[in-house]
Amino acid sequence: MSTIDAATRAHLFNAGSVERYRDVLARGVDRVARRVGEVDRPGTGVTPDALAPLVGGIDLDRPLNDTDAALDELHDVWLRDAVWFHHPRYLAHLNCPVVIPALLGEAVLSAVNASLDTWDQSAGATLMERRLIEWTAGRIGLGATADGVFTSGGTQSNLQAMLLAREETYRRVIGGATVRPARPEVLSRLRIITSAAGHFSVQKAAKLLGLAADAVLTVPTDAGRRMRTDELARTIDRCRRDGQVVMAVVATAGTTDFGTIDPLPEIADICTAAGVWLHVDAAYGCGLLVSPTRRRLLDGIERAASVTVDYHKSFFQPVSSSALLVRDGRTLRHATWHADYLNPARAAEQGIPNQVDKSIQTTRRFDACKLWLTLRIMGPDAIGALFDQVVDLAADAWHHLDADPRFEVAAPSQLSTVVFRYVPPGAAPNLVDEANLHAREALAASGAGLVAGTKVDGAHWLKLTLLNPETTVDDVTGVLDLLADHAAWYARTAATLSPVG
Ligand SMILES: Cc1ncc(COP(=O)(O)O)c(C=O)c1O
Repeated sequence: MSTIDAATRAHLFNAGSVERYRDVLARGVDRVARRVGEVDRPGTGVTPDALAPLVGGIDLDRPLNDTDAALDELHDVWLRDAVWFHHPRYLAHLNCPVVIPALLGEAVLSAVNASLDTWDQSAGATLMERRLIEWTAGRIGLGATADGVFTSGGTQSNLQAMLLAREETYRRVIGGATVRPARPEVLSRLRIITSAAGHFSVQKAAKLLGLAADAVLTVPTDAGRRMRTDELARTIDRCRRDGQVVMAVVATAGTTDFGTIDPLPEIADICTAAGVWLHVDAAYGCGLLVSPTRRRLLDGIERAASVTVDYHKSFFQPVSSSALLVRDGRTLRHATWHADYLNPARAAEQGIPNQVDKSIQTTRRFDACKLWLTLRIMGPDAIGALFDQVVDLAADAWHHLDADPRFEVAAPSQLSTVVFRYVPPGAAPNLVDEANLHAREALAASGAGLVAGTKVDGAHWLKLTLLNPETTVDDVTGVLDLLADHAAWYARTAATLSPVG
């Protein structure tokens, strides 16, 4: 029999080690607090080449046996150069600063380590997740039969929505057929329609679900980057004529680049008339569910068959925190598999609430705990006010950019992104592209600010994603000045170096 020494045993979290738990966690909290207190830039611009030897040089088979030494090392390989979403000049991707009640939830949920697959691994946690699903479905207006489940993120929520839509559509197709078609034949005819500004996770879902390579049809957007409903109706008609079956329309409530919301009521009308599953990807726009002033922007979402919400985008929650909501809870059965060791059918008959019956995951974090504590400590209106603040800020930033002759700006966002680019006077189009690419990279390398980049109609543009309520217009204009300087320098240098004639 092997014996475990006392030092090893002391690392296990249990009734005998609560003092150590308090001490070790406090040390970690202190490190993070100190670092957050001192960072003056959202990043340091560190490169993979600079960090790789440091990380690669660590011998993972030789422990330090010392918490402080391990935290020092963690500082060197990560915390010193981490990207800080809380910093007011982090203006890049859809990552929000997080609220402290949610961090408390994160610490509690990982210490208790409940797993939300079955009641016998979670107890009250299951009921709390269910209450939050009910609460979110209520905010959306999905009705009495609604249900859902927490997921790891918008990608997984969209994937599960497409799984349910595929299965419901498949059943409908075989139900109406006189001769039952082969499943692969039906799957090859299924189509998903989304807009050209929809999220790429829809394409990924189609691939994972075994649909045809051309299963996702993208309809064009209007000048405001919202799905064109005339084109949607035409695409559905064309699919019908070509013998294809539209299994879902994915409307986006908050496109990743443009922060625009597809015209949900009109899309819902078209889907109802065509008998098509409407999925609303509100991964980004879900913050509007608690907005004191802008909830109406989501009008029509209540008519969806399924909805994706990412609390880790616009509810100021740490990653991961997302959910899939469905109008008809029975459709979640397409994710059900009864395993004798875990969730036998008997348990369902006895009314034991096993969330694994609704999820495509098995072991699953109690992410709902973070949202629970956020709502119980701050309340939904406070979260909505924070989200409103960043939407207002984006409108201000858009006006600044629109009035600034150095920049060109895309259509205004309904949420909190701003897509723009620097236009050097009289510069050739390829030089404009290169100057903007350079400006973004040079800014990131300096660490003075971080912005994102994207392509608009084949050209390189820059993007602000504003999710920090503490960011001011001055922060934004300061970063714009830096970008303009970097881009102007590039344009000047490139023009000097390029051969004449
Ligand atoms: C509209 C939209 N849907 C889905 C996703 C995917 O979400 P996640 O990164 O949480 O998987 C994103 C991510 O940016 C998004 O913007």
